[in-house]
Amino acid sequence: MNEQHAKFRSMDEGTQEDWEIIGRHFMPFAHALPDRVLTHLKLLDGDYGGFPIDRLQHSLQTATRAHRAGESEPYVVMALLHDIGDTLGSYNHPDIAAAILKPFVDEKLHWVTQHHGVFQGYYFFHYLGMNRDMREAFRGHEYFEDTARFCELYDQAAFDPSYDSAPLEFFEPMVRRVMERPINSIYKAVGEAA
Ligand SMILES: [Fe+2]
Ligand SMILES: [Fe+2]
Repeated sequence: MNEQHAKFRSMDEGTQEDWEIIGRHFMPFAHALPDRVLTHLKLLDGDYGGFPIDRLQHSLQTATRAHRAGESEPYVVMALLHDIGDTLGSYNHPDIAAAILKPFVDEKLHWVTQHHGVFQGYYFFHYLGMNRDMREAFRGHEYFEDTARFCELYDQAAFDPSYDSAPLEFFEPMVRRVMERPINSIYKAVGEAA
């Protein structure tokens, strides 16, 4: 079957028909987002960076600890994906996970994701000649304690090679459910119409 394509050479030539063709492609593509995210997460497999366990195992351990502590499904998915940006965001990895999760989680979980790097620094920045209290710049923010708690209970605690983490397959249905529908996106209406 020949795939239909829009005919414009620049968007100012676009027609209703063109955008109906593009619109028909958008939802299947958007619905496959969890597959692309999980594929990317697997890039962390075998990536140790000197740590006791690789970054995929760290992600699984963080998510498993959060799940076993009774955190919500979006929280567990956030815990699973919080370091997914390590491959492309060597200098700002929390921003990447925060951007991927933003349409699907509430403001608090987004904030925790985006700021976890600075808060995690409390446990090691001083070994790198940095200020471990950099997080104090956010003291008083309504999500300060939530972010400190995420790092204390789950993120900084998830480097134990002997911990019995659940496998990625355990979390896949959660990722699919959380990413099924955006709650914050300028394209939300397109998804709802489909
Ligand atoms: Fe991180
Ligand atoms: Fe982490």
